[in-house]
Amino acid sequence: MQKVLVLNGPNLGRLGSREPDVYGGGTLADLKEQLEADHPSVEVDLRQTDDEGQLIGWLHEAADARTPVILNPAAFTHYSYALRDAVAIVTKAGVPLVEVHISNPHAREEFRHTSVISGVATGVIAGFGFDSYSSALWLIRRRSN
Ligand code: DQA
Repeated sequence: MQKVLVLNGPNLGRLGSREPDVYGGGTLADLKEQLEADHPSVEVDLRQTDDEGQLIGWLHEAADARTPVILNPAAFTHYSYALRDAVAIVTKAGVPLVEVHISNPHAREEFRHTSVISGVATGVIAGFGFDSYSSALWLIRRRSN
């Protein structure tokens, strides 16, 4: 069974109660359920952390195991060069990594318009709620066939 790592950065553990007007009412458990329903042939390993070092460690793990990644870097998107370097380790190893966002950061505050991650990601999907993740998984599966 194909495995995919679905990594979520800071404050995404609060989905469900965090700004539902922006992020919707679904929780991370709901997200996992949706991904498993949309992609029954894939083993979804969904994780969340508020810690930058933890996220970087998981990316190193993905590069070593050659596991494709769906990454929502949350606020780290906008300023973490350390996370960018870790993402580059994954993609330069030839492992696909899709940057996703629930909201469309370009339609929000100015500081969200910059992503230091996008330039080293395989691609980016933003603005489609949890469907951003499901579409990313579809694209990863298509690449792996
Ligand atoms: C987010 C957008 C980021 O700007 C924000 O900091 C998040 C969530 C999104 O999924 O829309 O935490 O990555």
